[in-house]
Amino acid sequence: DVDADGAPCDLSNLDQGCQDYNLPDNDWEHSSLSICVLGASGDLAKKKIFPALFALYYEGLLPPNVQFYGYARTKMSDEAFREMIGGTLACRIDARERCGEAQEKFLQRCFYQAGSYDQAAGFSALSVRMASQEAVLPRANRIFFLSIPPNVFLDAAGNAADVASSRTGWTRVIVEKPFGRDAASSRELADGLSRHLSEDQIYRIDHYLGKELIENLTVLRFSNSVFEPLWSRQHIRNVQVIFSEDFGTEGRGGYFDRYGIIRDVIQNHLLQILALFAMEQPVSLDAEDIRNEKVKVLRSMKVVGPEDVVVGQYRARGKLPGYLDDDTVPKGSLTPTFAAVAMFIDNARWDGVPFLLKAGKALHRRYAEIRVQFRHVPGNLYRSKQGSNLDAHTNELVIRIQPQEAIYLKINNKVPGLGLRLDTSRLDLQYNTAYQQAALPDAYERLLLDVVQGDKRLFIRADELEAAWSLYTPLLHSLERQKVAPELYPYGSRGPVGAHYLAAKYGVRWG
Ligand code: NDP
Ligand code: BG6
Repeated sequence: DVDADGAPCDLSNLDQGCQDYNLPDNDWEHSSLSICVLGASGDLAKKKIFPALFALYYEGLLPPNVQFYGYARTKMSDEAFREMIGGTLACRIDARERCGEAQEKFLQRCFYQAGSYDQAAGFSALSVRMASQEAVLPRANRIFFLSIPPNVFLDAAGNAADVASSRTGWTRVIVEKPFGRDAASSRELADGLSRHLSEDQIYRIDHYLGKELIENLTVLRFSNSVFEPLWSRQHIRNVQVIFSEDFGTEGRGGYFDRYGIIRDVIQNHLLQILALFAMEQPVSLDAEDIRNEKVKVLRSMKVVGPEDVVVGQYRARGKLPGYLDDDTVPKGSLTPTFAAVAMFIDNARWDGVPFLLKAGKALHRRYAEIRVQFRHVPGNLYRSKQGSNLDAHTNELVIRIQPQEAIYLKINNKVPGLGLRLDTSRLDLQYNTAYQQAALPDAYERLLLDVVQGDKRLFIRADELEAAWSLYTPLLHSLERQKVAPELYPYGSRGPVGAHYLAAKYGVRWG
């Protein structure tokens, strides 16, 4: 390549028509990195994004020439911004020394630009500020995190890409869910984004994919010869993926009511877990190979029918408020805060195996787990010792995603002693005792680091998203069209009894 004057492109003339000059993507010696959070005054930015950026910075995992920017409509000086996020930064490994010093250094790299999402002026000012920090190095790479409500997604993405993208390096844009409300609106969003950005530049986040135990799912399955041969209808009776929160929509009722639990948690987080669980072995660990397998399995799933779902909504119990008591929720709303769904995969590996997904707010406890129930042992020698409830004695593999991450396998075992008595015991891998050396990184840390490194393994590809929506859109439309009334359950309970009937229809008991 040559520059505007015909001189060969090298590091010195990158800015003069030599954008194509190929420095390796991660040549951080010659490149700077600007990370900008749009919607920096909001909840997610404070709660997750800046703490994760700080953790990466603290661990020395970010390039040396990194700067952080906040952008939002709220007027704020750099100092006020630093003060706001300063209060959210924690040192994950508390025992480390000089945390306060690291926080101070991090905050000195943080800047704030006020501006609207739908006008170029603010983005132009942002770009100028970024450029003033980047000028010392030949290549500038930029990341924009869209931490804003969906109504301003497209304007903000368009301005970030058209007005503030880097002229000398790559620009990547992280998009948070919700990616639309159904197949049509998701397509519209995808088309809108594609007018400004290539698929290569878009990182669709599903933060459940960044959780330690979810990343471990493929390791567990594909690198252990005791599990891989069992991973099919021949040995597995059913699989449950459970998400349970012990708090309601407090404070987020306005957002939540437009979406409901199926769009908020099931169509994305739980379905992604299911796809990773059930996919065939990918050709390699490359992002495209993994995502190809996920798309294949999503496309093999049956579209969820109304007969395979139970919806619920929490009501007040004692002093604990019901969903409808939230002022931001419209009176008489039918939006489900709980749903249980049975899904099936029409392929040779999984034909006939029920996959039960359950998610709810304001339940009895907070946890998320995958439970794999295995078939009964044929011709079991010890049947007479185990009583008539065979289900109580089948093997079960539990992957506890949170809290207290763990993997355990329930096995039948002889009770020690002279008699022959069997009970169910656990082969138990508790993360907090097995891996004491470090606290687990937050999902956002892993995902943000992957964006910096250009690794898309844990991000959702456009065709994956389309396949996921096509499984749930007919159900969502039918629930809304027919105004299906959710079954009420008390705040803090185990959810509606209908979920048990749904499971029982397929011979399953929730774990
Ligand atoms: P917020 O509602 O806190 O919004 C973020 C910022 O966007 C606000 O600080 C505000 O900044 C601006 N904003 C809010 N409403 C509007 C509006 N109607 N028009 C224009 N700008 C607006 O969102 P969160 O931080 O909670 O979430 C950000 C994104 O991440 C959303 O898409 C959300 O759905 C998603 N998400 C959030 C999670 C969470 O735990 N909070 C979890 C998973 C996803 P200003 O007024 O200063 O411009
Ligand atoms: C978000 C949902 O995606 O995930 C929230 O919008 C939910 O409703 C949250 O509370 C749960 O995430 P985590 O990581 O706290 O389990």
